[in-house]
Order: sequence, then C-alpha cells, then structure tokens
Amino acid sequence: MTEAFRAAFGRPAEGVWHAPGRVNLIGEHTDYNDGFVLPFALSRGVSVAAARRDDGVLEVRSLQAPATVTAPVDGGTVVSENWPSDRAWAAYPVGVARVLREHGTGGASLLVDSDLPQGAGLSSSAALECATALALRDLYGVEIDRPALARLAQRAENEQVGMPCGLMDQSASLLCTHGHALMLDCRSELSAQVPFDPAASDMTLLVINTRASHTLTGGDYGRRRAECEEAAALLDVPALRDVKDLAAALGALPDPVLRRRVQHVVTENHRVEAAVGLLRAGALPELGAMLNASHLSLRDQFEISWPEADATVDAALRAGARGGRMVGGGFGGSVIVLTSTARAQQVRDAITAAYEKRSWTPPEFLEAPPSQGAHRVS
Ligand code: GLA
Repeated sequence: MTEAFRAAFGRPAEGVWHAPGRVNLIGEHTDYNDGFVLPFALSRGVSVAAARRDDGVLEVRSLQAPATVTAPVDGGTVVSENWPSDRAWAAYPVGVARVLREHGTGGASLLVDSDLPQGAGLSSSAALECATALALRDLYGVEIDRPALARLAQRAENEQVGMPCGLMDQSASLLCTHGHALMLDCRSELSAQVPFDPAASDMTLLVINTRASHTLTGGDYGRRRAECEEAAALLDVPALRDVKDLAAALGALPDPVLRRRVQHVVTENHRVEAAVGLLRAGALPELGAMLNASHLSLRDQFEISWPEADATVDAALRAGARGGRMVGGGFGGSVIVLTSTARAQQVRDAITAAYEKRSWTPPEFLEAPPSQGAHRVS
C-alpha cells in the first residue's frame, strides 16, 4: 500500500491501518433498541494508507474506484445521495474526518483498499469509517479510546451520511479480538470477549454472500427503527430493551405491525444472552437452534429477509446444517450457516444447487475465522 500511496500522491505515506468487516452471530436490529449484539470480526476489511495535510483538506482515493475526492474537513453536512454515485463511498471518510475534527484532527491524503464485497451486509462502510478514524487519530496523536472512536464513527454515519445505524458495526470493527465474538451491551456500552472457535468443536461457520445486494440508506432500515421507537413510546419505556413482560406489551399495542416488531426485538435479546451462555458452556452445536429462531423472527416478525436468504437457510438445513440465518440490516446481503465440518461440503453443494435451480447468480462462500479488530499495520 505504501508504494501505491506514493504513486497516487507523489509523497510517502506516514502509516497504514486496517479495519475489518464483521459478521453478527446473533442480535439483529437490537443495537438501536439499547439491546445486545454478538458480532465477530472478519479477516477481510479495509486498509488505508495515510499522510497528514496541513491545508485542512481530506483527499481520498480508492483502488476500487476511479475518482479522487477532495473535501474541506470543516465543511457542512455530507449527504452521499447528492454526490455522483461514483464518489458516494467517499462520504464515509469525509464524514469521519469532519466529526473527528472537533477532537483535534485535521486534513489528510488517504488511499483506500478493500477486499470486502460491498452491499453484502458485512459492514464495508463501518470498516472504511473505522480505518479512517484510527488513521486520523494516530496521525494527529489525539487521545480517543476505541469505544469512543466507535461512537464517533457511528455519529459520522448518522449525521454525515444520513444512515440511522446503531453502534454494532463500528464497535465490532474496533473492539473485536482474534478467536472471540464480542458481547456488547448497547446501552451501557460494556463489552465482553466470548471465546468462539468453531474448529475446536469440529464445526464450521459458513458465511454466504447471497449476491442480492442491499442499500440501507434507501429507507427500509430507518422505517424499522422508527417503528421500534414508536412502539417504545406507546409502551412508555425508554427503549424496547426495557420490555420485561412481552405478553403484556403485545396486549397493549393495537397495531399488528408494531406487535411483530416488538416480538422480534424482545425475543432476539433473549437469544443473544442464551447464545453467549451456550458459547461459554462450549455447547456450540446448540447455537444452531438459536440461529434458526433468529432467522424465522427476522423473516416473519421483523420482515426484512429476502428470497435468496430464505432459500440458503432452507437448503442448508435440508442438507443437515445445525442452523442458519440472515445477517446485518436485511433486504439483501449475507447469511451464516453453522454445520459440522464433516457435512460442510454437502451443505455448500446443496446451497449452490438451490441457486442453480432458480437461475440465480451463484453465491459466494467466504472464509470467516474470528479475527483481530482494527489496527495499525505499519
Ligand atoms: C446494520 C446497522 C447496525 C445494526 C444492523 C442490524 O448493520 O449498521 O447498526 O442495526 O444493521 O442488526
């Protein structure tokens, strides 16, 4: 990356940083409801080579996109939708530079390289934000700890890009550690590293990019979030995390749509806690049942699954997998499947055959060892 940086900008980079994408084991659409999530970091992610500029300008170039984008770090709101589509990606680093500027960082030249598929629900945008945030923090020697950096990156996405995401993806990218999933309480922001090593139990976690790509700025994600907030207001609780008596809450809500949303969020929080218990007990195969329950809830109660995800889970279970579910914001992206390693090939073949039968673009299978969070590479 350092050679590519010199070729792009005609001067040396001061360093290279890497931030991973994530897979969420369980706990979907719980983060902005003050609930629990359990993501782990992928080995794939976004690398950024960077050097400071003293003119207050952020200059970003990507090895995956043609245009170089420059923007003042003290400018106003970045709304990526108003940018031409070939530079919409740059709203993420520019947004982060504008938010971090309040903490003492300045301009920089950034060269970005990514090996994460975009729109695959694996948090390529959070990885880009977090690599940028870590680079700017280190370049300018500003003291911000990782949980705070995650919040700032989330704020950049909320305020500068206009996507009302929760805190999960940025926290996963910055706080995950090798061989662990991260149990994060999105209210207290306390987190714990939970050992997660499928191979030790002769299990394999497949990550399958269904190639039905999603865009979360399109409004469906925001609508789900608004429905959850409306339900919490009607139930007179600060957030759906505070619903203790589900039956009473369902009885108090006349709108069947809101009832379904509440049912998902409340039960999903219980599933995260159960999943953590199973991982700590070394009962990894039992996690499969939790994944299946989560998928059905996301499909039927939260209504954010998509045909390729349902077909993937269905084919995997028929081939003997222990469980599977859609991951991420929904409406497209990836699926995880937990299977014994002995059956993994059979499960992959069954999924591939299910796509062939429907004449869909073949799915992409990704390696997913639980990996290290964001770090400085050089
Ligand atoms: C997206 C958001 C996250 C989270 C998930 C759903 O990835 O960025 O904050 O809400 O969807 O769990």
